[in-house]
Amino acid sequence: MAEQNTIKKIGVLTSGGDAPGMNPAIRSVVRTAFYHDITVMGIYRGYDGLLNKEIKELTVSDVGGIINRGGTVLLTARCEEMYEEEGQKKAGEILKEFEIDALVVIGGDGSYKGALAIHEHSGIPMIGIPGTIDNDIPGTDFTIGFATAVNTALDAIDKIRDTATSHERLFVVEVMGRQAGYIALETAIAGGAEAVLMPEVPFDLDVICARIEAGSKRGKLSSIVVVAEGAASSMEVAYRIKQTLNVDTRLTVIGHMQRGGSPVALDRILAARFGKAGVDLLLEGERGAKMIGVIGGKISVNDLADTSAYVHKIDPEIVELARILAI
Ligand code: F6P
Repeated sequence: MAEQNTIKKIGVLTSGGDAPGMNPAIRSVVRTAFYHDITVMGIYRGYDGLLNKEIKELTVSDVGGIINRGGTVLLTARCEEMYEEEGQKKAGEILKEFEIDALVVIGGDGSYKGALAIHEHSGIPMIGIPGTIDNDIPGTDFTIGFATAVNTALDAIDKIRDTATSHERLFVVEVMGRQAGYIALETAIAGGAEAVLMPEVPFDLDVICARIEAGSKRGKLSSIVVVAEGAASSMEVAYRIKQTLNVDTRLTVIGHMQRGGSPVALDRILAARFGKAGVDLLLEGERGAKMIGVIGGKISVNDLADTSAYVHKIDPEIVELARILAI
């Protein structure tokens, strides 16, 4: 890490599913780089755009007025070509052609696989910044976009609770998370849900039904069951609960609404910290492939290679908390 600073130009791209807070992260990278007299090239449409040379300098004013905007001004894509060696090599060659000394990739673990492959073929330093609503990246307690997505889902659940109570109904609410139950778990705790289904935690619908029934016997007027999209078919869950309990049941799928909207303060600040930390790391001489994260409130640095080597586990204590409070 003691290498001299030869970084004069860095590239930045967003890749995979967008997440609220990606814009503040781009802004942080550009403004920190500007502060240190480094040029930033914005790469549009993720790796797709890199392979198509959709590359343009980003100035300080280009990132003005974006801190409060959801989505990503750089646009994003999931790129098939980057799964092939040919695409990975070509990406490195294009970065060299544009004299880009290092690349900042804002996205999830799929995006890091691409970054790692480019690094292995070209030697170009890579900095990963965790941006995904799923919060499923090892090496960081939080990813950019998670807090906003939870707040969006929570807002929906609060509204659903109003109508559920008025009609004395049960609602099954599906939230995002194909492989991860973080959004489901935190939304369930914050929304006072009666049950939560996550891909990481085995569940028994009969036990859940018995608990819901006990609650309504005690006088509960409504029940909400939060289902992470990867845990089970929410339609099937709603059908089974209705069959078992014979209660008026409805299903709401919140869907991509969770990916949009103005980032909450927590995500903006996380994004600001991650962006600056990424540029700082390069200035300190880092020339490998690393990921910035936050552990226990402090910025952490991990090998990008490790982010796919193990799984970001759900904290069993939080699962227990959700179960106890759902009574
Ligand atoms: O980015 C993560 C995520 O929102 C997951 O929660 C979800 O399963 C997936 O992306 C949806 O992807 P797409 O936008 O391609 O439908």
